[in-house]
Amino acid sequence: MSTIKKIGVLTGGGDAPGLNAVIRAVVKAGYNAGIEVLGLEDSFDGLIYPEKSRVLTPRDVTGILRLGGTILGTVNRGDPFAMPIVTPQGTFNYGDRVLEMFQRMELDALVCIGGDGTLAISYEFYKKGIPLVGVPKTIDNDIVGTTSCFGFDTAVSFATDAIDRLHTTAEAHRRVMVVEVMGRDAGWIALHAGVAGGADVILIPEIPYDVDKVVQSIRERDARGARFSIVVVAEGAVPKGGHASVLSAATAGHQERLGGAGIACAKQLEELAGKETRHVVLGHLQRGGAPTAFDRTLATRFGGKAVELILKGRFGTMVANNPPDLVPIPLGDIVGRTKKVPLDYDLLVTARRLGISFGD
Ligand code: F6P
Repeated sequence: MSTIKKIGVLTGGGDAPGLNAVIRAVVKAGYNAGIEVLGLEDSFDGLIYPEKSRVLTPRDVTGILRLGGTILGTVNRGDPFAMPIVTPQGTFNYGDRVLEMFQRMELDALVCIGGDGTLAISYEFYKKGIPLVGVPKTIDNDIVGTTSCFGFDTAVSFATDAIDRLHTTAEAHRRVMVVEVMGRDAGWIALHAGVAGGADVILIPEIPYDVDKVVQSIRERDARGARFSIVVVAEGAVPKGGHASVLSAATAGHQERLGGAGIACAKQLEELAGKETRHVVLGHLQRGGAPTAFDRTLATRFGGKAVELILKGRFGTMVANNPPDLVPIPLGDIVGRTKKVPLDYDLLVTARRLGISFGD
């Protein structure tokens, strides 16, 4: 007989399609195991402000499987330990307040759904004594230890559709179309959507690019009679000897915001290749909307597995996809690390074989 009677569930960091599917699975699997599930709003804020939590029953999660976003809300706030917390009840040290409220709310464990930032915060709380299990979330697919994260497939599908649409207009006008996709530290979205959409050039953070090489591949296409080109640029792409395009620097409350890689590349290509060039930034459209069937399924599996790990007392772990299984891996093994696209990844190698340029 399990001693787990009441658990909290929270979502942190940038949203990703599939968050609601995880919440739903946690609530339903928990309920069916005799566990009360408390939904914590706005990430760990649900453990700081007493009014920011609510009991979730299967009825409360009916119909959310197909919804993007998160019914619990989320925050993306950098290092929350850096600042004291001011509440109507007084000013508190962030870590102490969360620990105190976890006990006061009579919770037995937490399911923390988030990306690298939220999982790092969760690991700190685990070390301070909160029993918890992490669920990896990011459209960027850059969390180590798991082959995939929900949200990635939805983002790739959306970006692929956008590239398909850009193809017809690029071809009609014989233009170069540059499309900037998300992926601050890793080029998974750019690579997968680029290949799926039939891009001619893919620029990713893992491979600093030489704009002259990109111009050369555009000219070669023109010479072969194609006369239009599609260039997919990850937001974190870097020119050789240069740096990533930053919109705003990091602050205590927020990580550095990237943006501008696409327009910078488009301007250079127009100038150097002497071809009409347009650019598009897909931005947060990649994070919005309904999750694909793949993401709904993966998110549901993650939620169910998180409850199983809690029942088994496997705390301080993250649910990881290791096909065909879901496995627990220690949070300590994944925090502070980034899963980059390996340069010998078969999709990248195949893309090169097909003649796609990476600008190197
Ligand atoms: O980590 C996911 C991500 O979508 C990145 O690709 C992007 O740089 C970042 O989040 C944007 O964050 P925000 O929504 O805070 O602007």
